[in-house]
Amino acid sequence: LNYNATRERRHIVDLLFNGLRRLEHRGYDSAGISTDADPCCAPLTVSSGAVLRSPPPLVFRQEGKIENLVSSFHHEAVVAELDLELSFTSHAGIAHTMSATHGEPSPINSHPETSGEGNEFLVVHNGIITNYMDLKGTLLRYGFHFESDTDTEGIPKLAKFVRDSLNQDLGSDGGDKQVVPFTQIVMDVMRQLKGAYALIFKSSYYPNELVACKRGSPLLLGVKETGDMRTDINVESDLSAEGHHGKPKQYYLASDANAIVEHTRRVLVIEDNEVVHMKDGAVHVFKFDSDKSRRLLRPASVQRGLSTLEMEVEQIRKGNFEHFMQKKIHEQPDSLTMTMRGRLIRGREQKAKGILLGGLKDHLKTIRRSRRILFIGCGTSYNAALAARPVVEELSGIPVTMEIASDLLDRQGPIYREDTAIFVSQSGETADTLQALEYAKSNGALCVGITNTVGSAIARGTHCGIHLNAGCEIGVASTKAYTSQIAVIVMLALALGDDSLSTQQRRNAIMDDLYNLPSKVRDVLKLDKHMKELAALLMDEQSLLVFGRGYNYATALECALKVKQVSLMHAEGIVAGDMKHGPLALVDETIPIIVIATRDACLNKQQSVRQQLKARKGRLIVMCTEGDAEFMCPDRRCRIIEVPKVQDCLQPIINIVPLQLLAYHLTVFRGFNVDQPRNLAKSVTTQ
Ligand code: G6P
Repeated sequence: LNYNATRERRHIVDLLFNGLRRLEHRGYDSAGISTDADPCCAPLTVSSGAVLRSPPPLVFRQEGKIENLVSSFHHEAVVAELDLELSFTSHAGIAHTMSATHGEPSPINSHPETSGEGNEFLVVHNGIITNYMDLKGTLLRYGFHFESDTDTEGIPKLAKFVRDSLNQDLGSDGGDKQVVPFTQIVMDVMRQLKGAYALIFKSSYYPNELVACKRGSPLLLGVKETGDMRTDINVESDLSAEGHHGKPKQYYLASDANAIVEHTRRVLVIEDNEVVHMKDGAVHVFKFDSDKSRRLLRPASVQRGLSTLEMEVEQIRKGNFEHFMQKKIHEQPDSLTMTMRGRLIRGREQKAKGILLGGLKDHLKTIRRSRRILFIGCGTSYNAALAARPVVEELSGIPVTMEIASDLLDRQGPIYREDTAIFVSQSGETADTLQALEYAKSNGALCVGITNTVGSAIARGTHCGIHLNAGCEIGVASTKAYTSQIAVIVMLALALGDDSLSTQQRRNAIMDDLYNLPSKVRDVLKLDKHMKELAALLMDEQSLLVFGRGYNYATALECALKVKQVSLMHAEGIVAGDMKHGPLALVDETIPIIVIATRDACLNKQQSVRQQLKARKGRLIVMCTEGDAEFMCPDRRCRIIEVPKVQDCLQPIINIVPLQLLAYHLTVFRGFNVDQPRNLAKSVTTQ
């Protein structure tokens, strides 16, 4: 945050805390904040010409959730007699919430990490530094003292080291002299770093300045203007201090749009190897200059227009719901409508006509000619692709293989130029998926992205793609993105197959059901009360088995994933066709089992599975098509979840909804945190 309107400390701190709250789903092990100590606007200059460093910035760090940090801040503020009403005419503050990757959650392992006593340099970091051990070794040899276990701590120390060395090179007396531009220090630090990062630097030598840079991890610059909003702002001419009238007053840097959308929708998506410099309420964006000899020259500026965030502030609020997960489950009729808007083309009398996927229009022919399609993703995104795989195979006739991103990387599995690799990721920034994308690109495959985040690394790194347009997801467990991902991949299958006459009828039937899908999802949401009752019955169980097959194998996996992810109950999704090869041994009268047996080509086989599980005394919960309860459970000794029928390839979208509700209610009954499950984070940006 860089602020140049007169504000009290309380306002600035609240603004930073609130930004953290909006990001808490990304990490909630510990948090920290740094603000200016006093309202000095420029470093003090003494008669010798030396520039004294301003009082060290204040730093507060705390383990646990944001609210721990907020209360410890207020406690320490009282103890230190910090004046919260003190006005600042200009201010630069940073804050961070983290998911622990190196070291246990503790204040010391929290960001901002510091260069040492005096907080000469402070850094917040999203990502992972892979050469941190080497850096640490070098800095230890130069006398630096490390106190944390994080991979970040070396960065502010390196910044201090660089500053001191540059000053020495320039013959300055070092100390308090501010000779070297802050941006040069950051660029020299960047030269030494390996891994993925978005970093923001603050320093007591450069009060009122922030420098940010990125490689691999996301970073957004938000601009809040006080004057009229214009549509085509150019970074260099409009954000710089020079020659700009009606100057913007507040700038935000964030790794996620959620943190800033309440303040502004005007953003610049910072690209890899760009450096953002904020000073006294003005911003410049530079290209990282790898040429050391140009150190003290002004680097080349970036010229780019701002874009507008397509999200509503309402999306980041819970509204009338208790939890974000609950809200997002209930939003699915709308999110699916948004996903299909403008893509499902209707002809006369509202008859299905075709699919329009603008982001693929120049690449469909190439995809149709592929030797193979690979779906690559993690977690729920993988499951979504698995759910839609059969219809892609059916309508395109192209072999489809599935890859969990990390496994593909571990194996360095073969990928060829004739392959189309489709990367499915809600966030568009999952580290494994991103790295798999680099791998597939280097092997010459056509890379397609399916993400929910415009401007994300995967959206930008792929050759073409489809956005979900499902609106932001805040609970860690993915719900509405899952159903939208399936809908998008089904539309992709329809588009790939639309040159085939023989599948015309089938495609029309799918398109008709896609059209009606939001209202069917609205119907299935009426099962909420029923699922809550079921959750009350299951809440004390140790374990849950879920059997599915064909289109609904993925439903079984996704149900089990949701249950274990949020309710912390052990659950296992099982492909029913493999039941006799192991899972049957688990079945007795103690274990609850969900059998997904909605109407499709596998119905008779699932009926037989149900009978065999019953014969082993399994406690069955059968999900069946409306009207099939009698047929699926003739002795009425199992529990039934009846769902509306749609085309088989869309049925996973309907079927998962009550199971999401089940996982949600189980979690509430078991007393766990629905939106922030233990040890997990929404976006896994480290490997
Ligand atoms: C994390 C989340 C999961 C998500 C997975 C993949 O593990 O907790 O809910 O499915 O990442 O995320 P992506 O953003 O790539 O879909």
